[in-house]
Amino acid sequence: MSERFAAVEIISAKRDKLELSNEQIEWTVDAYTRGVVADEQMSSLLMAILLNGMNDREISKWTDAMIASGEKMNWSMLDRLTVDKHSTGGVGDKITLPLAPLVAACGAAVPQLSGRGLGHTGGTLDKLESIKGWKANLSNTEMLKVIQECGAVICAAGAGLAPADKKLYALRDVTGTVEAIPLIASSIMSKKIAEGTSALVLDVKTGSGAFMSDPKNSALLARTMVNLGNAAGVKTRALVTAMDVPLGLTVGNALEIRETLEVLAGGGPSDVVELTLLLANEMLDAVGIKPKVSPADALKNGMAMDVWRKMISAQGGDNDAALAVAREKTEIKATASGKLLSMDAKKIGVAAWRLGAGRQKQGEAVQAGAGIEIHAKPGDLVVKDQTILTLHTDESNRFDRAVEALTGSFSIGGKDEVVQRLPLVIERIEG
Ligand code: URA
Repeated sequence: MSERFAAVEIISAKRDKLELSNEQIEWTVDAYTRGVVADEQMSSLLMAILLNGMNDREISKWTDAMIASGEKMNWSMLDRLTVDKHSTGGVGDKITLPLAPLVAACGAAVPQLSGRGLGHTGGTLDKLESIKGWKANLSNTEMLKVIQECGAVICAAGAGLAPADKKLYALRDVTGTVEAIPLIASSIMSKKIAEGTSALVLDVKTGSGAFMSDPKNSALLARTMVNLGNAAGVKTRALVTAMDVPLGLTVGNALEIRETLEVLAGGGPSDVVELTLLLANEMLDAVGIKPKVSPADALKNGMAMDVWRKMISAQGGDNDAALAVAREKTEIKATASGKLLSMDAKKIGVAAWRLGAGRQKQGEAVQAGAGIEIHAKPGDLVVKDQTILTLHTDESNRFDRAVEALTGSFSIGGKDEVVQRLPLVIERIEG
């Protein structure tokens, strides 16, 4: 088949800071998915996009082309409105786990396609797989059955959804081209728009443990995604939230499931509960649902826990099986008494990853029990030799590298010193 364009002309245009036409963009994404544009050509174009950017029209067309590479899901047969949440990822960010059943308990349908962890940020599917028997891969028919029975489903995106993004994301990951706003925004939004949700709340993280550590860049990413979603007919809004300190008191797969169960039982750490409730209220508002029982009450009275248990068993999970516990433990203690002034999310995330909670490359197995328990957070008073962190792993030879990553991961100062940290919500962006 004769091709409409030559990849080298498109690469050269972006290299020279020219705008790509709609036809050029459509062809490039389609030809790459078909294997006509080679990986080395696409790598070069991605780097030119990272360096020279794209305007709003180009980003929107690139997103449309990625959606068109696969199927578009449809939930019109459901008797409830659909709303989804997407987080750009962070350390200890287990919010999807209590949030999806909570929002379902309050009357919306939540089709939550989630991912696995790569690098220092954890993945929702890895966390759920620490529950005995739970399965992440569902056919579209199975997914529909779970959402009809339970109101929420959390599962992996099928191979048919935005296949262009799967190929592009794998290439970006090994070519230093992940951190480009046009590429991140189009990657996330192509999957969310193809997923067919009627509304979407984005939780764009900022701070050391996030993809983007500068709040200005995080807000720009949030605004770009909100515009893409609304232009495609998905009611989209975003919160830019703090990821300078880990969320909650656990980082790691089974450890985070344990904390989720605490939240669903009406307890749990205050930051996790606060963010879960903020996002639940945003999601319900986005689809115009005024729940008879408030999200705060649905956590306290067991309604959200009931949906969780139903959802887990509908996907083969054993709610009553004990969660994995790592074989080995070691403790990191306070070297002085005083106030805990800081705790670096990135360093804690890297240490948990080195303990086996995350993977070095795609496809590797993760340890269900590995991770870190946090016993004090910034603002807490601590005494010398008090345990601040407990490290968990199945392989004790992982401790040295994890402890190395934790150098300078927290600081202790005088009792009267002021803690400098980001507020939980930095900005709210609506279309
Ligand atoms: N998550 C995605 O799905 N894509 C990106 O580019 C970054 C994070």
